[in-house]
Amino acid sequence: MSLLPHRADLLRTQNFINARWCDAMDGRTLLVEDPATAQPFASVPDSSAADAAAALSAASSALPAWRRTAPRARAAVLKRWHALLLSNQEDLARLISREQGKPLVESRAEVAYAASYVEWFAEEAAHLHGDVIPTPHARRRMTAEWEPVGVVAVITPWNFPAAMIARKLAPALAAGCTVVAKPAEDTPLTALALVRLAEEAGLPAGVINMVVCSRERAHLVVDLWLRDERVRKLSFTGSTAVGQHLARESATTLKRLSLELGGNAPFLVFEDADIGAAVDGLMAAKFRNGGQTCVSPNRIFVHRSVHNDFVNQLLPRVQQLKVAPATDPSAQIGPMINDRAIAKITSHVTDAVANGAQLLLGGHRSGHPAGGHFFDPTVLVQVTSTMACSCEETFGPVAAISVFDTEDQVLEAANATPFGLAAYFYSQDIARCWRVSDALEAGIVGINAGALASEAAPFGGIKASGYGREGSRHGLVDYLQMKFRCQDA
Ligand code: SIN
Repeated sequence: MSLLPHRADLLRTQNFINARWCDAMDGRTLLVEDPATAQPFASVPDSSAADAAAALSAASSALPAWRRTAPRARAAVLKRWHALLLSNQEDLARLISREQGKPLVESRAEVAYAASYVEWFAEEAAHLHGDVIPTPHARRRMTAEWEPVGVVAVITPWNFPAAMIARKLAPALAAGCTVVAKPAEDTPLTALALVRLAEEAGLPAGVINMVVCSRERAHLVVDLWLRDERVRKLSFTGSTAVGQHLARESATTLKRLSLELGGNAPFLVFEDADIGAAVDGLMAAKFRNGGQTCVSPNRIFVHRSVHNDFVNQLLPRVQQLKVAPATDPSAQIGPMINDRAIAKITSHVTDAVANGAQLLLGGHRSGHPAGGHFFDPTVLVQVTSTMACSCEETFGPVAAISVFDTEDQVLEAANATPFGLAAYFYSQDIARCWRVSDALEAGIVGINAGALASEAAPFGGIKASGYGREGSRHGLVDYLQMKFRCQDA
């Protein structure tokens, strides 16, 4: 089936600055590749510092009016945007699948997921309260009130091209901030289509500005925003190494930061678990988006007494996964994003096998007729803590399984990582559920649950997985600063 959107105007291939669609000022372009065929299919601007500066001037000029706009009026724009995202769900899903590769069923779910953040923050915008502080002196009045932080720079990844940008833009707009944004070079088209729909929803000029560029030129765009004190906050989802760089560079102007960085999620199956439920949970969490999610279980620990049962139930499920391009409506695992991803996954499997892991399924690039970057769903057992697949995020369809004997031993192993984004475990013992969820060092813990994210819940990590929360009321506070007002009569 075709992955072209019905609405031609949703295929935007230019920057959006001060409500104008425009090319890069120096005319440079960048090709967007279809990961299912490895062929380029669209050309977008490869922007530089001049484009970043124009975007920032527009956001800065639009700030005074937007921050003064009544919260209900801001919410009304967000609600119209939410409705447009849903009424254009199929077109947006096609764009996601075309540039990111995930199966259409997942892309449709991603659009609904993205829209849920927009609706949530439209509601939050109108329900934000400060405090009236009991006064220590007669004749004195004290309040603590929220105000927007100012211009926000938003930098998003390729794995969820709609959801990651929606859950940053929606709270920023709800809070009264204006935005300069840079989507990932692999997946700019979905982000641009979202902006087109925000424009249609009546967003005033300059409130969102989007600039696209290649990896090679990203520093030109981002450094300009990092160094400029008009940018008061930076929200980034991506690797820990890049997050650390951004944090260092933001220090001079003391920007607020939300950093949603790498993970290395443990997935624990205790001897008292419902094994069928644990296999269902792993399938949902591990193979969503072909394993290309920050919350994907990267290290699977199974109690020795249930290991064989778990593996025997898992293998046929993984074997049945259909690896195919999104043009095939029955696809369940799409291509990986690019050749670098394939190289990393392959190196993790090769390293594991060389160091004693047993490969039960998959383990290599799929020879799919479409060409592209496909990798067979893979199951490894006898994985140990020193293998590359235990130390780094594989970001692919690889289930890497180890055995454990005691709760203390598995908790120590699960926490033996610098990362702390998500953790999962399966147990039917209520006392253990409290104990283990207390002990796991992660911002998000799934207890007998494999699909965790929701617009109503705070998403974010601890340790080297970053800080800040997206979604929930906490996701709005990240875009606000508090003003204490003190008045003597
Ligand atoms: C991510 O991979 O960063 C986000 C995953 C999610 O929202 O579930």
